[in-house]
Amino acid sequence: LEVPRASHAFDTGGHSHFMAKEIYEQPAVIDQINRLYRDRSLLDQLFSLDAARIRRINFVACGSSFHAASVARHWIQSMSGIECTVHVASEYRYEALPRIYPGEVAILVSQSGETADTLAALERLRRLGMPVIAIVNESGSTMARLADITLPLAAGPEIGVASTKAFMAQLVVMAHLSLHLALRQASPTITGRLRDHLLRLPALIDAALHNEPAVIEAASGLAGVSSALFLGRGPFQALAAEGALKLKETSYIHAEAFPAGELKHGPLALVDDAMPVFALAGSDDLRPKLASNLREVTARGGQVHVIGDRESMLSMADVASGMMTVPRAPEFIRPMVAAVPLQLLAYHAACVRGLDVDRPRNLAKSVTVE
Ligand code: AGP
Repeated sequence: LEVPRASHAFDTGGHSHFMAKEIYEQPAVIDQINRLYRDRSLLDQLFSLDAARIRRINFVACGSSFHAASVARHWIQSMSGIECTVHVASEYRYEALPRIYPGEVAILVSQSGETADTLAALERLRRLGMPVIAIVNESGSTMARLADITLPLAAGPEIGVASTKAFMAQLVVMAHLSLHLALRQASPTITGRLRDHLLRLPALIDAALHNEPAVIEAASGLAGVSSALFLGRGPFQALAAEGALKLKETSYIHAEAFPAGELKHGPLALVDDAMPVFALAGSDDLRPKLASNLREVTARGGQVHVIGDRESMLSMADVASGMMTVPRAPEFIRPMVAAVPLQLLAYHAACVRGLDVDRPRNLAKSVTVE
């Protein structure tokens, strides 16, 4: 399969860093993936695993790839009723596994396709006889070679150590996969409408990028900060975790993510007026619950920055001391839109702290050792 490659892949294309370039490439990457997956032949490979009989999906990944899989779990379970579990590869490779059932498959998610822990999990799963699907950006990688089926990300080379466009590509490919699996129980009219949302996504990401000035303002407040909290509910919990990972990676700020409802079970003790709290207001149904979680934060002097669309901003105005507005999007594709301010926040926080954005200390782009 020929995966299209971005031109000028190895220069920053007029941006100050690869990370900025890769964030701005996202609308084009999504467009490319939509075109690639419009032809159903890639996803139809799943029929060789008898897709109609898939009963359980075990996602295995590390870092940002793990967070992307954690979002996909929500899509697949809600749209097709297939049970999904998501595992950190470094644990899964050694974990005592429950009995494997017929109809169980593993989906390994990786940008590089060379992550040692994920590869070790792959080898273990193959020995156990579980079919393995790899969702990989590097098409010539070991993971792509060893998996039974490979779904390409087609994001082009990612140079910045902090994953941005590959994370976005993982979400979009898994959104296509979720729709494909949903055909088992949803009508083609419904899945067709959701697929149309994916076609609108590049324009929404573009609009989210236009709100960069509000993110720069929030990032300027992080110059002297030592800790930050990220909160979300539902699939936005995984986005919160991704926001925290991105911030610690690029800016060395200690950042933690929690499901917002867990705050009162301990993390609330961390909150004071020196701790910025970033809250992802993603799902409409859970918005009132999130707002009441955030009132707990403001009551303790915490500064809450809300990431959400105009509608959620209106209902959060009393708790938000800062806002990063994103365009209103259909709920299905909101995780992708919410990723943009999180990426820009990590990028600008590193810039205001004068750090090496593309090559953070102690980290490698591809973790090929245990
Ligand atoms: C993401 O910003 C990180 N650099 C890191 O967590 C990465 O996602 C992880 O190491 C997994 O890499 P992979 O996707 O290449 O397997």
